[in-house]
Amino acid sequence: MTLQSKTHTATAQAHPNIAFIKYWGNQDNRLRLPANPSLSMNLGDLRTVTTVTFSADLPGDALTVNEQPVVGPGLERVTTVLDLIRQQAGLELPARIESTNNFPAGAGIASSASAFAALSLAGAAAAGLDLDEASLSRLARRGSGSASRSVPGGFCQWLTGSDESSVAVSIAPPEYWDLRDVIVVVSQEHKAIGSTGGHHLAPTSSLQAARVAGVENRLKLCREALLARDLAALGPVIEEDAVIMHGVMMTSHPPLYYWNAATMTVIHATLQWRSEGIPVYFTIDAGPNVHLICEAADAPTVAARAGQLPGVQQIITSGPGGPVRLL
Ligand code: DP6
Repeated sequence: MTLQSKTHTATAQAHPNIAFIKYWGNQDNRLRLPANPSLSMNLGDLRTVTTVTFSADLPGDALTVNEQPVVGPGLERVTTVLDLIRQQAGLELPARIESTNNFPAGAGIASSASAFAALSLAGAAAAGLDLDEASLSRLARRGSGSASRSVPGGFCQWLTGSDESSVAVSIAPPEYWDLRDVIVVVSQEHKAIGSTGGHHLAPTSSLQAARVAGVENRLKLCREALLARDLAALGPVIEEDAVIMHGVMMTSHPPLYYWNAATMTVIHATLQWRSEGIPVYFTIDAGPNVHLICEAADAPTVAARAGQLPGVQQIITSGPGGPVRLL
């Protein structure tokens, strides 16, 4: 191979995902080996497209996100994943990384999952590596844990285990169930402590051990409900799992309160709509925005109602999405 002397480029696309059973806390922070298995749905209407170009003409790795240069910790995280790729490929060239999202920056939709899934595939392909799905999921995990779940398609489960075995696998393709995530944006503010810092704090909550102990059962119920396409069974489990995670967050030292007043407004409204016969359930990640999970047929009603609530800034709806792929 004469990779050292040439310019090599590849472009990949990945979707973010919403977790139904949450990842919170690590057994190993550096390797991002999770404290518990998790399960999610890729969001097919939201996309990150990333181009990686290895070139001898660059002074070092250079990253842009939505055309804005990124330096510091954001770039270091990307370099960590590229170093793993360079090591495997026996390559020493720096890279230009250009990443764009089709969803608004600051809308509280974590882009790290789609970003690191797309980076892993584009980087590996540009370096001349032909990695299988498990290897890509493992690589993406080192950049952001939830990115491991954006590598396979549809509904994915991320397994605990060793650096070798902790990868995500698809348990159903995107066509399996036409669910919707109606994302209710109630704040676009930057979080004081993001998920990486939050994972480090998880063990300081006395509730974390109980959360982890209960995950296996919730995961089993979630998986069964998903495979049976049974929203009445899925909904209560995903709500419970999200609220337990937020209980851990709120009882960490220092505590993490991600919810704001509008978050509670949306939760109460969801319970009210359900009592009126609309099958819709909530889940919440490391932020104040609420993800309303419902069937496709109910999504317009849910979105219209959520848009009327005080404090709601924006509604973004997505169906299930496929795996990371080269463009
Ligand atoms: C609450 O994958 O964003 O969204 O590995 O530090 O990048 P890092 O964390 P990240 O954590 C996601 C946390 C969550 C739950 C989930 O997606 O499972």
